[in-house]
Amino acid sequence: MEKILAPSILAADFTVLGEQIKAASEGGAPYLHVDVMDGMFVPSISFGMPVMVSARKCTDLFFDVHVMIEKPGRYIKTFAECGADGITFHVESDPDHVGEILKQIHETKSLRGVPLKAGVAIKPGTPISAVMPYVKDVDVIMVMTVEPGFGGQKLIPETIDKVRALRAFLDSEGLAVDIEVDGGISSSNVSGIIKAGANVIVAGSSVFKGDIKANVVELIDLINES
Ligand code: DX5
Ligand code: ZN
Repeated sequence: MEKILAPSILAADFTVLGEQIKAASEGGAPYLHVDVMDGMFVPSISFGMPVMVSARKCTDLFFDVHVMIEKPGRYIKTFAECGADGITFHVESDPDHVGEILKQIHETKSLRGVPLKAGVAIKPGTPISAVMPYVKDVDVIMVMTVEPGFGGQKLIPETIDKVRALRAFLDSEGLAVDIEVDGGISSSNVSGIIKAGANVIVAGSSVFKGDIKANVVELIDLINES
């Protein structure tokens, strides 16, 4: 499966967001991870549409939008209009409508004129059985490796066991679905996470603190070697 680094702009300096996105892109990152938080589903509020619109103007990178909001189905069309290429939402945020929301995402086109990619995410305390009913309807499953809501946290080691179990389950079903991991990932732990079966790696602090381009190059090298 293709291995992908997705730098999370939550850790960027927003006074120079365009320059920092350019540095991540020059390092070779194919995705940009965009964390939207509403202060309800998670305790923090991050940013929303205007930031996405501005970011979309300065890069062609794939926008991997991670929505940590209640009732995410309300905003699918709007996120697409702001430049989303893929939308991943939490099964915990609207458990009774997961299938409908996935369908809604796939029926929505990005600004590039192609259907959005659709993903479901689970918090560290949610078992992988919560996403198993949807494995045939998703492009990506995100296993959160920290509690969603804040960047810069330490990875919860038990979540890697979930990645391993989920990859084994997907393999047993013959499904090549992306497994994305998000939170606390750095050059010191990324190899083990890839070996466990994840292939989309979100990294905030470990990309945007220090030399962004060099951080991206280092992480991509490690990902490709693993
Ligand atoms: C947390 C967000 C993450 C965050 C990761 O809720 O979903 O995407 O930006 O940040 P780091 O890599 O610093 O843990
Ligand atoms: Zn995220």
